[in-house]
Order: sequence, then C-alpha cells, then structure tokens
Amino acid sequence: MCGIVGYVGKGNATERLIKGLESLEYRGYDSSGIAVHTGANLVVEKKAGRLAKLREALAERPLRGRCGIGHTRWATHGAATDDNAHPFTSEYSKFAVVHNGIITNYEAIARFLRARGVRLRSETDSEVIAHLIDLYYTGDTLSAICRAVKDLEGSFALGILSVYEENVLYGVRKDSPLIVGKGEKESFLCSDISGISEFCEEVAFLEDDTVVRVTAERTEAYDLMKKKRPLSFRKNSRAERGRETPFFGSHMLSEIREVPRSIEETLAAYPEEAVGRILRGDFDVIALLGCGSAYHAGLVFKTAMREIAGVPVRDCIASEFLTERQTEGERTLFIAVSQSGETADTLQAVRRAKKRGSKVLAICNAPSSSLSRLADETVMTHCGVERAVAATKSYSAQAAVLLRICLQYADIYGKITKEESRLYLEELSRLAEKTEEVIRAEKALEEIAKSLASADALFCLGRGADHCAAKEASLKIKEVSYLFSEAYPSGELKHGTLALMTKGVFALFFSTDPRLAEKNAASVEEVRCRGAQAVVLAAESAAKAIRAERTILLPDTIPAFSPVVSSVAAQLIAYYVAVIRGCDVDRPRNLAKSVTVE
Ligand code: AGP
Ligand code: GLU
Repeated sequence: MCGIVGYVGKGNATERLIKGLESLEYRGYDSSGIAVHTGANLVVEKKAGRLAKLREALAERPLRGRCGIGHTRWATHGAATDDNAHPFTSEYSKFAVVHNGIITNYEAIARFLRARGVRLRSETDSEVIAHLIDLYYTGDTLSAICRAVKDLEGSFALGILSVYEENVLYGVRKDSPLIVGKGEKESFLCSDISGISEFCEEVAFLEDDTVVRVTAERTEAYDLMKKKRPLSFRKNSRAERGRETPFFGSHMLSEIREVPRSIEETLAAYPEEAVGRILRGDFDVIALLGCGSAYHAGLVFKTAMREIAGVPVRDCIASEFLTERQTEGERTLFIAVSQSGETADTLQAVRRAKKRGSKVLAICNAPSSSLSRLADETVMTHCGVERAVAATKSYSAQAAVLLRICLQYADIYGKITKEESRLYLEELSRLAEKTEEVIRAEKALEEIAKSLASADALFCLGRGADHCAAKEASLKIKEVSYLFSEAYPSGELKHGTLALMTKGVFALFFSTDPRLAEKNAASVEEVRCRGAQAVVLAAESAAKAIRAERTILLPDTIPAFSPVVSSVAAQLIAYYVAVIRGCDVDRPRNLAKSVTVE
C-alpha cells in the first residue's frame, strides 16, 4: 500500500505535506513526491528512495503554495524510480494525481490514451488517471473527475489538483481508504488518521464511490453522478490521535517495550457484552481470517479453543480463502484479525464471507478502519499507533484478546467450570507482567541474536502452541533481518527437513509445555548431533531435559497462553538480529505496514 496526503489552507503546503508523509512513510517508502499549486502552475517534486531524498530536493528548490498533494509509495506497477514516483501530471501539468491502490484495467486505458496522442512517461498504472481527467476536462473539474473515475477498474484513493482551481483539493475513494480532516482554516486528505491527526479537530471517513471537493473552509461530497451526498464529520478522538510513548531509537524496539501496556489496556477495555452477543449467535463453525502476524495471532486462538474448549476452529489465510470454493454461510462465525483494518486480502475475504450471510467479528487496532466498518462487531486492541512495519505489540495484544474470547466462549457454552474459568482469567491477567519479565531479559536475548545473525539459515521449531509461536518468530526474523528462516513442527523434522541440519544452520526451539519436554529435548538432540546449533526458549517447567548451545528461561504459563510470552522474546531476537545485520528495522525492504492491494 502507499500513503497519500492533501492540504489546502493558510499554511505552507509543502511543510504540511512533508509532515503528513513522515507519518505515512510506514505505509510504503519506495519513493515520495509532492505537487503544489503555486498560483499559476502545478509544480511537482518527486524522488525515488526514502523521504529524506525528497526533502533534500525541496531544500534546493522549495515549492511555495497553499494547496498540494503528497505521496509515499509502495510500488505495485513499475520499479521504484523518479519517473514512477507519484504525483503524476497530465500534459502541460493541468492536473496532478496521487494514487493508493491498483488500476486493474490501466493497460486498456493506456492504449485508449495513446490512440489519442497522449505520451505516457512512466511504467505505472496510476499515471493514466491524470491523463484521463485531462482528456475529459471541458471546463468543470468535478465533471471530468467523475467521468474519468467511471472508466477506472480496481482500487483507488486519489488526491487530485487542478491548475484551474488554485485552492481546491479533490479526493476520490473506492476500496482504498481516504479521510477528510478539518483543521483551523485548513483542510486535509489522508490515507489514514496518523498523517493528519495532530492538525485535525474533526475527521470524516469516505465511503466507496465518493468524490470530495475540499477547500480550507468546507468539503462537499458527491457520488459519481455529481449528486451531493452527506458527509459526517466526527471528533478526532484522543484514541485516534494515538498516545505519547517513549521512543527508544526505533519504532520497533519502542513498540516491543509497549507490549505489556498494550496487553493490559486491551484486556481492560474488553467489550464482554458485545462479544457475548456475537458468541451466543446461531453458528456451528468458527473460522479465522487474517494475513501475516494477524493470521499467526489467530492460530493462538485456534490452539486454545481446541485445548481449553475442545472446539475445532478453521484457520484461513485470507488470500488463500479467496481462491477456494466457499463452503461457509450463515452457520459460520468469522473472526477477522487485522492491525490496520485495511489489508486488502482480509477485507476482500470479509466481504465474501458477508455476502454468504456469515457474521464477522473483527479484531482491529484502528477504530475507524474499513474492517471495523465492515464487521458486525469489533474488538479493539488498544496498542496506540504501530508504526514499525513489523507487527509486535499488535500481535501480542491480538493474541491476548483472542485468548480472552476463547475463555468467554468456553464459559458461555459450559466447556469449563466456573472455577476453571476464574483460574484461566487470573492467569490471563498475569500475561502482561510476564511479558515485562521477558523484556527485562533483553540483554540475554541480544546475546542469542549475536549467534543467530551469522546463521546460513534458521529453523524456528515447536509443538502445539509453540509451533504457533515459531511461525510468528520466523516471520518476524525474516521480515526485519532478511535471514532465511522457516517455521516447522519439531516432530515433523525427521520427515525430511532434518536433511538440512548441518554446520552453519541454527534452530530456534520453543519449549513451554512440560508435558512435551522430553519430546522437545529429543528434537533438540536430533538437530545438534547433525552439526546444527540449537537455541531454546523454554519455560522453566519444561527446560530440565534440554541440552542446547543456549537456553533462555521464560516465565511459566498455561501452554495455550505461552505464545503471548515467548513471542516477545522472539521479537527482541528478531530486532537485534536485524540491527546486527545492519537492516532498517522500521522500514524493511520491499514491505509496507499494511498491504491495501491484493
Ligand atoms: C507482520 O510483521 C507484517 N507486517 C505483516 O505480516 C502483517 O501482519 C500483515 O500484513 C497483516 O497486516 P494487518 O494486521 O494490518 O492486516
Ligand atoms: N499502483 C500504484 C503504484 O504502483 C500505487 C501502489 C500503492 O498503492 O502502493 O505506484
């Protein structure tokens, strides 16, 4: 996904746009650019690479004006070059456009434009939008935009400038999120609240197929037939503004250290009544939807539901769910997990589920996201804004609140006694402190990272709930340190993967269930006797039989709860491996914080 921002008002457009892009850079950072209406012209500055490159260019050639648009890119079509950076302008810079999404019929539009003499200057899908608006312009910008948008297929949030209207911004929304913000004699467009929150008293979240005309004083919303449509502004709450948190040199490390508070605040705000209404609904099956770390948090729920409630749960990677013949319907409750609430695969999967009459319970960290507006009920994680691309505090909070849902389900359906329920809830309330204990072992985890950083390959291994933790650990290490890693069930090693165990290979074992300690010890031995090195994250009660190069003791907890505790250790290991390998922990290559394209 990428981030778009727009500004119109009394202030310096360049300053406001760059400030917005700084907050949006986590959405994509292949290139960035702005376009400003300087009174007579639309002037563009755009650069491949990080936002700093754009700042350097603007320092040499400042753009002066009070209205503009900006973009930070995560490329889907066309390499990360200056020419492929947004904004794009039409011939003679009559219109400038920034785009978040994918125009799926852009090649046909490009042919249509070339046949009319238009010269395309980039490899992207987005550029056609600016030329199409120009082609349809006959004196009214709104009409030209509405007509052009009707030709577009795919997903798009657009910011548009017209040379004919100096202090007017236009925005369009279809599938990709777009917000209008109202400030003090100034207005904004933005992909998400983090880019404009500090300037806005009120915000409005655009619905699909909406065009907005924005000036410093007012915003008008239209449908594609130019018919006015209501736009409801709401107070920009403190929650939306995100909370002030200490910064420890990187967003990722800062956010790992917020894990205990995120778990505490999420569990404290648990909407028991609302979840109870959904859980008492009429369904036979529970199915999980999510991607990446959100999907892995769902696996913690799946394991706990089997272990504690004795109920099987289906887990679906959202993009895979979209490829399968759908068998679910009204009798299925979907639990969709997403930190951003804007992940295209997850949103599409939820739309598909709803079309078949399924109810959807969302677990989300963004109160006004597309997912929270699609779901029948939303359970918020209260982590504050998570800016590092790698999910850390959001994963931990998602897993904790999903365990809470599991306990509520088990209680409602009498799968556990009242006394068991009390004991489980008591242990759940201790998880935040146990993650704090893991964070206090940071130095020892940094030492582990030093040995792992030079590995040729890494296998993250575990059984049961530990395998869930291993999956998340592997993803974390891959995405921030670029070290090849694979998660595997420990017991499965001997069926092929053991062939890869040799000198230079490392195995990171999770062993938190005392009932499996002997088996885990045997797996560690299988790996070590073939020349690979083993590092073990073990609960004190499950460590006795294990012999490894390094063993880090973790606080004991209920095995089904253990990923919440062990994942923090894995997050810190991933962080330090990345630092040692000289990687940018907050902005890993090729990635974006939330993937709003399929
Ligand atoms: C996790 O570290 C990654 N950033 C990625 O896998 C992420 O979890 C996934 O893209 C889902 O994002 P979401 O939670 O915002 O839907
Ligand atoms: N498809 C556009 C591009 O490749 C926008 C990508 C995005 O939204 O991340 O530039």
